[in-house]
Amino acid sequence: MSHSSPDLSPCVTTIVGTGSYVPEKVLSNADLAKIVDTTDEWIVSRTGIRERRIAAAGETTSDMCTHAARRAMENASVTAAEIDLIIVGTVTPDSLFPSTACYVQQNLGASQAVAFDVSAACAGFLFAMQIARHFINGGNRSTALIIGADKLSALIDWTDRNTCVLFGDGAGAAILRRRRDGDPPSSGLLSSVLASDGTLSGILHAPGIGSAQTTPPHRAVIPEPIIHMMGKEVFKAAVKNTCEACETAIARAGLTAADIDLIIPHQANVRIVDAIRERLGLPPEKAFLNLQQYGNTSGAAIAIALDEAARSGVLKRGDNVLLVAFGAGFAWAASVIRW
Ligand code: COA
Repeated sequence: MSHSSPDLSPCVTTIVGTGSYVPEKVLSNADLAKIVDTTDEWIVSRTGIRERRIAAAGETTSDMCTHAARRAMENASVTAAEIDLIIVGTVTPDSLFPSTACYVQQNLGASQAVAFDVSAACAGFLFAMQIARHFINGGNRSTALIIGADKLSALIDWTDRNTCVLFGDGAGAAILRRRRDGDPPSSGLLSSVLASDGTLSGILHAPGIGSAQTTPPHRAVIPEPIIHMMGKEVFKAAVKNTCEACETAIARAGLTAADIDLIIPHQANVRIVDAIRERLGLPPEKAFLNLQQYGNTSGAAIAIALDEAARSGVLKRGDNVLLVAFGAGFAWAASVIRW
């Protein structure tokens, strides 16, 4: 029961800047071993994660988004007045409403923008990217700020060693713009695949806030929202579905796997990344990883990695880059961009 969007649009949308933000507080595996029955060795060998960042008290998802957005705008030399679309991919909004994107709009003073959130968990940034691309390709908008951001520390059961070792907080942003004269000739978003399978909603979910729980007169007993996860099922669904999506996205871009210079995968687990990479026949050095430092930052993960790959020079002009994400829904996405 998956639905992939056909995608044959011409490459008129390009990424002109990126930015990211992670909170200052570092939570190491050793720190976690003081809270739950775990070890650095177990976490590293099963996931590759060594530490993660945790938002400060009172620090919200929109705060992190705003930091990342300002860095992306500076990188792209784009002002708030030029932005006509803001999409935030998040499952940890500041509040049920308004959208986190509207808070970001307010913080930036981007008064010309239409602003809204998209809920696709760890695939949120790629869903936002594809929606923005449709707006821009369709001629409806010209300059989009897309953000992936999550504060999963707010949803973690800190007594559950199965989940609390995996996640961290952060935000990443990109400015997408309709191609202009002078932009690098071949750069842009080449292809995209978005897909979902609601029959797998039970393998990764965070009940607690929402219409299923908030019907009066029971409001006083609303449980704290926390992450529930069936780890092995998530692992299998991630590998199976994303490999197919990658192959489709590469084919839609008119490329083969051998043409991919860099894969920027969702930063959930190095073993999942290895499985996807090996199925595509890509060598380890072609995968960009920063999960060692940040853990799984959900919607932010690919956005932060893209920014770090760009700023560190790993990403070079003309590179064919495969972005691939998966998460709760089950929702997954793959995109090929030319840098
Ligand atoms: N420290 C020590 N032991 C732990 C642990 C921890 N942090 N977390 C779980 N365990 C234990 C379990 O209790 C279980 O013990 P039991 O066999 O006595 O019941 C055992 O480790 C499970 O080990 P294993 O089968 O080797 O786990 P795994 O290889 O499936 O790895 C995950 C577990 C969660 C790392 C892995 O399934 C995974 O990464 N799944 C995908 C999760 C994910 O990416 N979620 C986000 C998607 S966006």
